[in-house]
Amino acid sequence: MHKPLGIFDSGVGGTSIWREIQKLLPNEDTIYLADSKNAPYGIKSKEDILQLSIKNTEFLLEQGAKLIVVACNTATTNAIDFLRSNYNVPFIGIEPAIKPAALHTKTKKVGVLATKGTLSSSLFHSTSKMFAEGITVLEQEGVGLVELIEAGKVHDPETHELLRKYMAPMLQENIDCLVLGCSHYPYLIPVLKEILPPQVTIIDSGEAVARQTKAVLEKNQILTTSNNTAKHVFYSNSDIEVLRSLVNGVDAEVAHLDF
Ligand code: DGL
Repeated sequence: MHKPLGIFDSGVGGTSIWREIQKLLPNEDTIYLADSKNAPYGIKSKEDILQLSIKNTEFLLEQGAKLIVVACNTATTNAIDFLRSNYNVPFIGIEPAIKPAALHTKTKKVGVLATKGTLSSSLFHSTSKMFAEGITVLEQEGVGLVELIEAGKVHDPETHELLRKYMAPMLQENIDCLVLGCSHYPYLIPVLKEILPPQVTIIDSGEAVARQTKAVLEKNQILTTSNNTAKHVFYSNSDIEVLRSLVNGVDAEVAHLDF
C-alpha cells in the first residue's frame, strides 16, 4: 500500500526512531510531526498528554498515514491504549527497553533515564514488574534534558553537567546497563559515552521499534510495493532549525506548520 507512515513525538527526539525505521524500510514514505511547541510532554498531566496525542494522530491521519508510530515514550505509556481503541490504523509504540536490559545485566542493577510522565505511568510499572524480577531498577527523571536537546544544546557544558549529576547515583550502585527511556536521549549517547565507564551498556528502543513496524506492516499486508525513492516530510510547529540539523543529509522536506 503506497501511503506514508506517520510518526510523531513531542519534538525532535523521535527522529532517532525515524532513522532506524528508514534504515529497515527504505522504500516507505514518511511524515514526521514534531510537536515542539508543546514539548516537553514529560511534565504534563496524563490528560494533557492524551489530548496532544489525539491531535497529533488526527493530523497524521488527515495526511493519509496508513500506520502511526508514537515515537515518544511519554505519549506511548500514557495514550497508546486509547489511540488503539479509537482509531482504525495500527499503532506502534515505544517503551523503555527494560526486558533486554534485564536479560543483559550481570550486576542485576539497571538504570532507567526517562521523563516523569513515563516513569510514573502504569504501563512502565507493569513492564518493569513483568520483566525485571530480581533486578534492581534505578529510575532517574531526566529533568531539563528534553529542553536542552530541543534547543540544540547537546554538546553544551550544561548538558554534560546535568548528565553527570544524573548518572552519579546509578554508577555508585554499580549499574551495568543504562536504558534510555525517551526518544530524545539517543542524541545524548556521545556525551554519555564520555561519562560512563565502558562496562555500562547503553540500550535504547529504536531498532526494536523499527523491527516491530516492519512486522506489523507485513502482518497487515500494507508494506509499500513501490521501488521509487521514498519521500520524507518533517513538520515542526516551532523553530525548524534544530529539526533540520538532525535530519541533515537526508533527502527530505522540512517545514514549519501552524499546529
Ligand atoms: N521524546 C519524548 C519521550 O520519548 C520526550 C518526552 C518529553 O517531551 O518530555 O518520552
